[in-house]
Amino acid sequence: MTDAKILHPLPEDEIGGFLTNLLTALLRSTTPDSNQARVANFRRYWPRLRTWGAVDAGRVVATLATDPRTISVPGPDGRTALLDADALTMVSVAATHRRRGLLTAMLSESLQEARDRGDALSILVAAEWPIYGRFGYAPANDNARYSLHPRRRLATVPSTQPLRQVDQADVAEFAQHVFERQRGLWPGQVDRPDPWWPTHLRIDGYQASEPERTRTWVVYDGGDGPEGLLSWHVTRSDWDDPRGLAIEVGDLVAGSWAAYTALWGYLTSIDLVEEVVLPTRSVDEPARWLLGDGRALEQVSREDAVWVRLLDVPKALGARGYACAGAVVFDVDDPAPGGYGAGRVLVESDGGAARCTPTRHSPDLQVTQRALASCYLGGHSFSELSVAGAVAELTPGALKRADAMFAAPRRPWNPTLF
Ligand SMILES: CC(C)(COP(=O)(O)OP(=O)(O)OC[C@H]1O[C@@H](n2cnc3c(N)ncnc32)[C@H](O)[C@@H]1OP(=O)(O)O)[C@@H](O)C(=O)NCCC(=O)NCCS
Repeated sequence: MTDAKILHPLPEDEIGGFLTNLLTALLRSTTPDSNQARVANFRRYWPRLRTWGAVDAGRVVATLATDPRTISVPGPDGRTALLDADALTMVSVAATHRRRGLLTAMLSESLQEARDRGDALSILVAAEWPIYGRFGYAPANDNARYSLHPRRRLATVPSTQPLRQVDQADVAEFAQHVFERQRGLWPGQVDRPDPWWPTHLRIDGYQASEPERTRTWVVYDGGDGPEGLLSWHVTRSDWDDPRGLAIEVGDLVAGSWAAYTALWGYLTSIDLVEEVVLPTRSVDEPARWLLGDGRALEQVSREDAVWVRLLDVPKALGARGYACAGAVVFDVDDPAPGGYGAGRVLVESDGGAARCTPTRHSPDLQVTQRALASCYLGGHSFSELSVAGAVAELTPGALKRADAMFAAPRRPWNPTLF
């Protein structure tokens, strides 16, 4: 038990305490100046958030917020559809107050509110795997980190498309447009509502809370204007370093495959660069197939990114498209607090439009809500999860049918960690 009192919403004059608790719990390195910049930036973002906080003896000792966002889900025609999501973020409990039920109390309330609002699902990016499963969240997409070795023989992407270099201040004009086009190509992409770009680009009065890097920006123009955007900064500039010079890509946003090819062509052709690091990319980067030597693009690591908790199964499953025609009856078990996903539903698709309704038909697959959430974006399959006992096939052939229906043309990728 704890004497801390939970406040929702947390009053705006607690913004400083909210951030201090969050940054301390996440072990972020701060200075008085950087804190001041963070508070100033955060004050402009605050009105959009639904906030929770616990206060003990006048001090904020726990924080949680949810943000109304959208996520791209597999669409009916190989493209994507957009769905409202309750995005859980800024979760922290001070080390002096941990394991007394503060997270459980705040999160139970926020999930109930999301369900009452009619959100079909809640999403998050987890600091650690074991925290959120007990609340019904499950990993639904992986992101990957790559090293590109452009000076290797055949490590080129042939592209003759012209690119133009621009100043950082000019990017804001079209960045959102290009990013929205990219979301049409990939499921799993969380949106970037205002002030995401102004904060990222340090414009409109947003201040740098971390040392600024000089970024080089490059744009690809399609027939209707900017379609691709790339930024990079130098990470290894010592000419005596035996590993050679290196850069890291901060943004690689492609709103068309022509833009994608042109930007990768540019990355493989910068003189002097021995290594290009690309964090937070797709696990199935198509650039591999553009390179003369696919091994020049090395997947260094891969980690769970977006976690999903289904709050309204018929709504969530009815909002996405399916790769082929078919019908499956799921019996969904949801033992997590709230039990929001429990019930039996029929998912039907003619290969284009889809619907999902509660049903009394006998089930084809018995699944946990968490297994269904893991398969929702097309990042994992029911067959994969059946190995761990989270899916049981009750009608022969149903596992294969569900795998085929839920598959996405591209594995979900989310470069926006909220
Ligand atoms: C993760 C964190 C928010 C948990 O808060 P908390 O108030 O201690 O959580 P609760 O007391 O409600 O714990 C509920 C249950 O989850 C378990 N749990 C909580 N955090 C856990 C963790 N990091 N690893 C494993 N289990 C965890 C608790 O043991 C408890 O289990 P029990 O009911 O079987 O006893 C807190 O430890 C924290 O702020 N950590 C550092 C920052 C961080 O990781 N934030 C998350 C950002 S995504």
